[in-house]
Amino acid sequence: MPQTVFERNVKIAPSILSADFANFGAEIRAIEAQGCDWVHVDVMDGHFVPNLTFGPQTCKAIRPHIKTVMDVHLMIAPVDPYIEAFAEAGADFISAHVESGPHVHRTMQAIRGCGVKAGIALNPATPVEAVEYLLDMVDLVNVMTVNPGFGGQKLIQSQIAKVERLRAMIGDRPIHIEIDGGVDPTTIPLVRAAGADVFVAGSAVFKGGSVDQPEVYGDNMRKLRAAAE
Ligand code: DX5
Ligand code: ZN
Repeated sequence: MPQTVFERNVKIAPSILSADFANFGAEIRAIEAQGCDWVHVDVMDGHFVPNLTFGPQTCKAIRPHIKTVMDVHLMIAPVDPYIEAFAEAGADFISAHVESGPHVHRTMQAIRGCGVKAGIALNPATPVEAVEYLLDMVDLVNVMTVNPGFGGQKLIQSQIAKVERLRAMIGDRPIHIEIDGGVDPTTIPLVRAAGADVFVAGSAVFKGGSVDQPEVYGDNMRKLRAAAE
C-alpha cells in the first residue's frame, strides 16, 4: 500500500538505475522484500542530461511489481508533453526539474491535475529560492546532490547547507525533502541531520547483490537506515 499519511521518518528509495535493466520486475520485488520504502525511477532523455534510460512504457510495465511507492524522477526537457503518459503509467510521485523549462509552475499544476503528487527537483547549482513560490503546490523537493545523469558519483558537500535552508523554508508544510545522488552510510547522517526524509540510493543499495543474493540489498539498506537514524 502506498504511504498516504505524511511523515518525516527515514525512507530509503533505491534507484533502479543501478539495477539489472533486463530484470526490473525481479529486482523491484527483491528490494521491496528486503525492506525498501519507495522505488525511485530515473527517466533520462539524453538531452536534459547526458544519458538515456527509458520512458512511460517501461514505467507502466514495472508498475504492477511495485507495492510501495513509485517515485518517478523526470530528467527530461521539455517535460510538459509527457506528464500525462507518466501519470497513466501509474506514478505516485512525478518530479520535474526547475531547469527543465520556463514554466515549472504550470508543470507542477499539470502533475497535480493528473492526480499525482508533484515533486520539484533542483540541480546542484540552482539556489533554494527557485522553489520558494512553488512550495504551496508541491509534495516533494528533490535536492540533487550530484549532477544528474549517472549513478555512482560523490555527494557534493555544498548541498548540505542548501538542505538546511530548504528545511527552514518549508516549515510545517507537508513536503518531503529527497536527497538524490552519492547517498551512502557516510553521507546519509549529514543530510538526515540537515532535514531530509527520503534518501535515493542506487549504488549503495545494489552494490554486491543480485536477485539471487537479495540479502545483500537488505544489508545495504539496513546500514543506510542505521546510519541515518
Ligand atoms: C542521478 C539519479 C540518481 C542516481 C543515484 O541522475 O537521479 O537517482 O541513480 O545514484 P547513486 O546513489 O549511485 O548516486
Ligand atoms: Zn533520481
